[in-house]
Formats: sequence, C-alpha cells, structure tokens
Amino acid sequence: MANKINEMGNEVVEGYACKPVDYDATRPIMHYKSLLMICDDERCTKTSNIDKSEQLRDILKAMGLNKGENRIKISRTGCYGACRFRQVCLITENTQTNGNLKNNAIWMKNTHLFKEEDWRNIFKILSEDKILIDELDENNFIPMKVYD
Ligand code: FES
Repeated sequence: MANKINEMGNEVVEGYACKPVDYDATRPIMHYKSLLMICDDERCTKTSNIDKSEQLRDILKAMGLNKGENRIKISRTGCYGACRFRQVCLITENTQTNGNLKNNAIWMKNTHLFKEEDWRNIFKILSEDKILIDELDENNFIPMKVYD
C-alpha cells in the first residue's frame, strides 16, 4: 500500500501524520492566511480529553480551508499565562500576504465550549475576510489592558 501524501504534496513516513519521506531542511513552510494557536497545556486541556487541534484540522479539511490562498493553520501552544480564560486561542493573520490586520492578535476564551458549528462560523468569517470582533459576541474575546 502506498504511503499517504501530506498537504505539501510529499509522501509521508508510515506511522506519521505529515513527516515527509524526502526530508529537506530548506523546504519553505506552507502558506497560511490565518493562524490559530490553541493552548494545549495542562489547565486549558483538562476541560476535555479530546485533541482539539486535530478536531479543528478535520473541520478545516471538510471546509476546504486546509490549503490554498485562504488556508487556516492550527498550531498547539504551551501556557499563555492566561489560564483563567481557558481554553485560550490566539488568532493571528499573515499580514505579509493576504492576512487581515483587524483579525490579528485576537484572543479568544472558553473555546472548549465551542461546538463544531461555532468553529465553522469562525473559519468562515476569517476566510471571507470579515472582522471577527464585528461578527461574534464580545464575550468570546479576552480583553487586553491598554497602557496609558
Ligand atoms: S494552560 Fe492555557 S493559558 Fe495556561
């Protein structure tokens, strides 16, 4: 049986999700428009025992947003020091290309409570280049202290 092919079009080492058979340290990373960095540390993840990032990647695949110009990338992070807002998710945009500055540095809270349709809505808003804070309830966001 042939090995699977990752999203960069490279053959994957058996038993891995995306590790390429043909290792090339100079290969560029894949373009993304939006990057969601979801906390995978102890206090944020104790609210559930599912792998949130894999779940979100599956949704993105189903929506066709795992590749292409409006690709949304999901990464796991360690503790942000904001555990009281768990499960914390930081959204950034690739402002070097087609990312939207107004969706950059957006902190979302209690994302462990989000259902699949909530994530689908967030992904749709990002891919359509709408402004998250205009489209969603303000209670979804972590306020940031602004210095005088
Ligand atoms: S464990 Fe997620 S912010 Fe601390």
